[in-house]
Amino acid sequence: MQVNGQIDGLKKSYLDALELIYDIKVPKEQLFTMEMVSVLAEITSLTNREIAVYIDRRGSVLDVRVGDSKTVALVQADARRKEAGLSGVLCVHTHPGGNSTLSDLDISTLKQLRLDMMIAVGVKNSQITGVSVAIPDESLKSTELYGPFHPMQHELHELRELILERDKPGKELAVLWDDGFEKALLVGLETPQTPIIEGISEAEISMRELKELARTAGAYVVDAIVQKRAVKDAACLVGRGKLEEISQIVQTKEIDILIFDEELSSSQIRNIEEATRTKVVDRTGLILDIFAGRAKSKEGRVQVELAQLNYMLPRLSGYGTAMSRLGGGIGTGETKLETDRRHIRRRIDYLKDQLDEIKGQRQTVRREREKNKMPLVSLVGYTNSGKSTLLNALCSADVFAEDKLFATLDTTTRKLELEDNFTVLLSDTVGFIRKLPHHLVEAFKATLEEAVLSDLIVIVADVSDPFSSDHIHVVDNILNDLGATGKPSLIVWNKWDKMDGDFRTPYMNDKREEIQISALTGEGLEELKAMIKKILEPKTEQVTLKVPFTQGWVLPYLYENGVVKEVDYIDDSSLIKAEMVTKSISRVKSFIVE
Ligand code: GTP
Repeated sequence: MQVNGQIDGLKKSYLDALELIYDIKVPKEQLFTMEMVSVLAEITSLTNREIAVYIDRRGSVLDVRVGDSKTVALVQADARRKEAGLSGVLCVHTHPGGNSTLSDLDISTLKQLRLDMMIAVGVKNSQITGVSVAIPDESLKSTELYGPFHPMQHELHELRELILERDKPGKELAVLWDDGFEKALLVGLETPQTPIIEGISEAEISMRELKELARTAGAYVVDAIVQKRAVKDAACLVGRGKLEEISQIVQTKEIDILIFDEELSSSQIRNIEEATRTKVVDRTGLILDIFAGRAKSKEGRVQVELAQLNYMLPRLSGYGTAMSRLGGGIGTGETKLETDRRHIRRRIDYLKDQLDEIKGQRQTVRREREKNKMPLVSLVGYTNSGKSTLLNALCSADVFAEDKLFATLDTTTRKLELEDNFTVLLSDTVGFIRKLPHHLVEAFKATLEEAVLSDLIVIVADVSDPFSSDHIHVVDNILNDLGATGKPSLIVWNKWDKMDGDFRTPYMNDKREEIQISALTGEGLEELKAMIKKILEPKTEQVTLKVPFTQGWVLPYLYENGVVKEVDYIDDSSLIKAEMVTKSISRVKSFIVE
């Protein structure tokens, strides 16, 4: 058996001495032998490197490994036992410098490899200064620390019994140790140009959203860091020093994925992945991932896939592991890593054709709506503001509402009956968010057009969110980009039930109507309906017409475009009193007598 790890440049005599450790059999009631740790202490002092020995429960040495002065690059993570319980292996390793205190990395290795124990032996001038131990606690969820001990102290070796007691067969594996979630580290950037909103840097607000996005995507956010920097670094976005700090966190906190709040270029992704040896995703990629997982209708799926491909195309060379994630949610089987650019372009063309077809179908629906003269009302707003809940409350529809971002991707349209048989169509749309990827806005134009073409835009804001007024600005900006400037719109402050009586809504400084509601309790919904009716109801006028019998078309026209109230007959004419929609009056103007 040979010594593993960083053995380059080590004298043969040292390696020979270490190799002999494989022949040592540790007695049942001990964790290691004095002979073993003496050799480790000796060679550690001579080389100034950490040395680790892995021992199984029968006392056999499985692995002897050399690291640099800071870390022994321990056994690969794939040595992790898949089944529940501990691995039945302990690790004894040295700390050059004399301090036996266990580091974060030691603890995380204990967890990651599900070791029975992590034992650190402090070494100075070939002498053992003390031995410290970390073991899983009773629940196997956390760790307990013991020591420092003398290497041959009873209490130290008795810890073996404790572990055997705790790791009984059938014990469920702790969530913390292998919970199936990807552990994420969020990375943001703040430059002097970053705006301040409501007294808080936009970088921080954006990071809070990123955390929600990560949660929605199914990641577990372990930590978040924001670097303050004069300019963005061309190679890695953040500076070299920060990147090293990130690498350290990745190691000690067992990070599986780095999520950057800024959009990264292909070379930046490559550089960061190489430097940290960890999968990298940016905010755009994350949002696309979420969309891919959530799109249900054909239209939604086509749009998301189109956005993903357009995002991926310039990044083809940059992605290593991360790219296989993208496309994963679509289920087409077409967007695999090996797909070349040409293939992707062809697929993009195909999807665009599909979208055109869908647009055509939409137009048919739209014409139908126009024929029936039903005004369209669109609910738009930040993600999670409560649009779906409001649509459900108003129309007793069954739209997916969840406390996660982007629960709704597909437009849902329902009839909403208002007073006096006045009916409108109400549409729920995809939620908006800061830095909504432009590929998505582009791809979702067909869906978002619904909002642009509607007769009234109802902007839903979560009043309990401290940044609700800023969210309205973000929504306004996206609507402007889509060409919806000047559309009638009103602001609905939702989730009013969460606020106490003294609360005032933010000052919006615009002329739009505003209303406070709770989609959950129903408060304010009748007023909202009345408001929608007032804005959309056709303007009418009371008119009296004298129509000769020869003009047989007029009466049916009046019935169709207004309410006929009275009909009298005088000589060869009808005298008709009617309430007419203003814009329909001009055709019958010549018959009006009053
Ligand atoms: P996206 O689909 O992401 O765009 O979200 P959405 O705007 O459609 O929000 P949704 O209706 O899914 O609601 C988000 C969360 O807010 C859900 O947990 C709702 O139960 C909650 N919610 C909605 N309206 C109210 C309200 O008036 N009061 C309270 N307290 N919670 C509400």
